[in-house]
Amino acid sequence: MSNCDVTPLKVHQYCHLNRLFACALDMTMAVGQPPYTCACFYTDNIFLENFHLHVRYTDEQQFRRDYGKVLHRQGCQTPGQLRQVLETIEKEVQRRKKLGEESRKRRTEISLCYKPRHPELYVLQESFLAGEFLAAVKYSKSPQANLEGMVQHLHSITDKRIYQLPVFLPGFCTKLIEELENFEKSELPKGRPNTMNNYGILLNELGFVDTFTAALCEKYVKPIASLLYPDWGGGCLDSHRAFVVKYSLQEDLDLSGHYDNAEITLNVCLGKVFADGNLYFSDMREVPVNERKYAEVKHIIGQGVLHRGQHIHGALPITSGERWNLIIWMRASQYRNKLCPMCNKEPLLIETLGDGDGFTSTREDKAETVNICSLI
Ligand SMILES: [Fe+2]
Ligand SMILES: [Zn+2]
Repeated sequence: MSNCDVTPLKVHQYCHLNRLFACALDMTMAVGQPPYTCACFYTDNIFLENFHLHVRYTDEQQFRRDYGKVLHRQGCQTPGQLRQVLETIEKEVQRRKKLGEESRKRRTEISLCYKPRHPELYVLQESFLAGEFLAAVKYSKSPQANLEGMVQHLHSITDKRIYQLPVFLPGFCTKLIEELENFEKSELPKGRPNTMNNYGILLNELGFVDTFTAALCEKYVKPIASLLYPDWGGGCLDSHRAFVVKYSLQEDLDLSGHYDNAEITLNVCLGKVFADGNLYFSDMREVPVNERKYAEVKHIIGQGVLHRGQHIHGALPITSGERWNLIIWMRASQYRNKLCPMCNKEPLLIETLGDGDGFTSTREDKAETVNICSLI
């Protein structure tokens, strides 16, 4: 329980606030756009931790048909065990429905009550950034910039369009972890990044988005991404979601293979001291399983890995210490409005109470969207 008393807002007030915040948070999102998610958020990519399996659930019949055999093979064999799995799914769907409202409450409470240890970190400064990163950004903005020249500033991981480069100076990484640990120690409420990461911090709730991660994406990462991934919306990234994940022997050790709800992902290792826990990449989701080739990337403190969100990847277990990584999922509405990266179909837009998942809607389309405020 927190000792901070926040007057609860009614749902319709949240809907209103939500619109205002969304406009302020997104990098260059169209003014007045409410946040949207795809309807698949409430049915698809539900992670069953005990079976290391992502599932889709629309009704019990569909679920039994699609996953009955694989679950049976993995030990879910009695009606009681299946009931437990169904309850897990139901709980997760309910959590997702309340996510936006809960996050808004936490953000309000944190902004009123949290005392940062290093308040100067909340506004991005060039002094936080590595010289190599600044040089890469400078090149990306030069008139003669092209892909070939850009790649000279980065370390290419095989031929898979995965790139590693220094982003933050080590001193900044140490201070950022100190800040995050200070927040962890507080009694304030904490949201968790997703169902696969049980430990970590949502940077939008802590107040890093407007003045830190939005600037990092817009001014620094986007020019690089526009050269590396023009076919994945690299040049028209217009919103993002930022969070920090934490791995330790007592908490999460590793991360199962998955793809991100992002067109482009930046993953920066912040520290601390750890052994193993490499990032691994398989292939793009459309490549058949038996043709996928694997690559591993060693985490280096301060260095970031850029990759396409649809590139299947995961994290191997650490064997000692503690690892913290900053993850930024960058979205391009022009791209995802046509194809939702999570269901791989044209998105069915639902107005949400949260920050949304980077979709936008034209005025004509709005008549066909569902307003989640009306569902509660
Ligand atoms: Fe990921
Ligand atoms: Zn979808």
